[in-house]
Amino acid sequence: MTTRSITDRLGGLAFGGDYNPEQWDEPVWKEDDELMRRARVNLATLGVFSWALLEPEEARYDFAWLDAHIDRLHANGVAVDLATPTASPPPWFTLAHPDALVVRPDGTRLVHGSRDTYCLAAPAYRSAARRIASALAERYGDHPALAMWHVHNEYGTLCWCDHTAAAFRVWLRARHGSLDALNEAWGTAFWSQRYTSWEQVLPPRATQWHKNPGQALDFHRFWSDEIIAAYREQRDAIRAHSDRPVTTNLMLPAYQNIDLWAFARELDVVTCDQYPSAPGLAAAADVAFHADRARSLGGGRPWLLMEQGTNTVYDGDRVLAKDPGDILRHTLGHIARGSEGAIFFQWRQSRAGAETWHSAMVPHAGPDSRIFREVTQTGEVVARLGELAGSTVSASVAVLHDPDAWWALGVDGLPSPELDYHTALARAHRPLWDAGVTVDFAHPEHEVSRYPLVVAPALFLLSDRAAENLRRYVADGGTLLVQHASGYADGRLHARLGGYPAAPLREALGIRVEEYRPLRQDERITLSDGSHGAVWSESLRTEGAETLATYTHGMLTGSPAFTRHHYGTGQGWYLSTRLDDTDYAALVGRLLKEAGVEPDVPGLPAGVEAVTRHAPDGRRWQVLLNHTPEAVPLPDPAHDLLTDALAHELPPGGCAVLRGH
Ligand code: GAL
Repeated sequence: MTTRSITDRLGGLAFGGDYNPEQWDEPVWKEDDELMRRARVNLATLGVFSWALLEPEEARYDFAWLDAHIDRLHANGVAVDLATPTASPPPWFTLAHPDALVVRPDGTRLVHGSRDTYCLAAPAYRSAARRIASALAERYGDHPALAMWHVHNEYGTLCWCDHTAAAFRVWLRARHGSLDALNEAWGTAFWSQRYTSWEQVLPPRATQWHKNPGQALDFHRFWSDEIIAAYREQRDAIRAHSDRPVTTNLMLPAYQNIDLWAFARELDVVTCDQYPSAPGLAAAADVAFHADRARSLGGGRPWLLMEQGTNTVYDGDRVLAKDPGDILRHTLGHIARGSEGAIFFQWRQSRAGAETWHSAMVPHAGPDSRIFREVTQTGEVVARLGELAGSTVSASVAVLHDPDAWWALGVDGLPSPELDYHTALARAHRPLWDAGVTVDFAHPEHEVSRYPLVVAPALFLLSDRAAENLRRYVADGGTLLVQHASGYADGRLHARLGGYPAAPLREALGIRVEEYRPLRQDERITLSDGSHGAVWSESLRTEGAETLATYTHGMLTGSPAFTRHHYGTGQGWYLSTRLDDTDYAALVGRLLKEAGVEPDVPGLPAGVEAVTRHAPDGRRWQVLLNHTPEAVPLPDPAHDLLTDALAHELPPGGCAVLRGH
């Protein structure tokens, strides 16, 4: 029987980091023990990339060094999140099994010397991964220090080699049943792509021009299933020897090689990594976007932030620093939204190797540093929040998220490069976050009737089931906003004929889109209500909906751009262009009002984030984060767990966790 709660074992929320002591020596380990106590670390992730040390040659293991570290951590009161090292096969492995190296779409076979250089579909890799997972589980499965298992690291590496091709064909046969069905699904009647034997079917390798979109979509689906199967093999090997929860750290939000809904169902606890892509307030919004997705993947169950950086913001190929105070604010931002603590990558900043310049809890400067002081302060705060363990968050708005729709917008031959799924998803979340409303993400085929408002951005691909699900949602009283370029294609990426979006959903929206008219890069258009749009426009006609704004340019002048339809007991809203941020925020504000959705904690000024965590026994905590440079008086003073005193105001940039509200 698996013990699913990690916090029971830790006696509170988790706080700690990836710990790679093999980079250091005895005096540093001694200092680590002392600094971990100071920072109130109670969980360390060990062994993520330690394969070469654990198995120096095939099937010969060396566990002595790991025994010593686990025992040392245990003696120091630090529990262990033990990783399987399979994200980084050692050089001996790739030399013995060159066929297990990643091959790029252009045929280049990569070499070792980095990490993640393996093909998940290669039988030699899969059996080596099962073997080491099993050996670790056998040795440490019931070690008293062991809190949980961390399989692999950020699954997601793709490959286009011959092993992949063989596995892809097996998957395609199971999905389509016959070559005729595959030919039909992929539309191979066009461009002379018809397959007459399974051996002719390849992964979508480098081609002269557009790749077949059905093939590209199926390849993503196949890889997702392959990744989940590889995870399951390790998980099951571990479960044969251990009753501790098993997970893998998912990477959110911009990296989408997996159907995360399906993957989350396999995890005892959802864990995710988060690195913001812009500093300042945008980073705080990114934290919330990430945390809301992570919680939603597990259906609202408690989850855990498995990695964040103390001072790492990825701005393209530049790494920017966080603002002072962000270590605490980002940590609490995740905890507010259901995380059972916060783990960092990594504990001590490397002095050599690939990630020497990546931030850490103990920086190169050592403990006498701003970063370590903030880490210590954050550890003390997290230690005071033990009573939040197991409590959850409730949301009144859902944003729809479908991996198929994401992949559909990644295929060749689309009319605009600016139909970017990830950006659309984040843009839908941001004004809701600004409005203080807590958001769940939901798959378009999920039951969503408990949400008064549902927002559907970028559902270019919409399955028949999803279209009917959303129609019913509106008919039964929901308020639904569907945004441009949605419902254009079915689950096979075949165009919807007779007008977009998909027929049953169109009924609820009371419109029919007849023609898409993408805009030039940087082109802006004005609608009749004074709002501005970009990227996309559509020629649509109403079939029962009322027009709220029309286009004012070119052939679309006077035709509907933004509509609302009363359908059943609900409302279907349709927006046919991408509104500018402020106009979109105003629209979201209007929808919140119509749907009767209030901020989670009403009465707070803009820039103050507030989320309530609820315990099953009725206890509640408000987590408040002041993102402004001003002190903010609290409408309802209460006991703050951070200071153990009555809080009347939030200091500039400050936080509070109020009990009992
Ligand atoms: C994560 C990864 C870590 C580390 C970190 C750096 O995606 O899991 O191992 O590389 O990025 O930001």
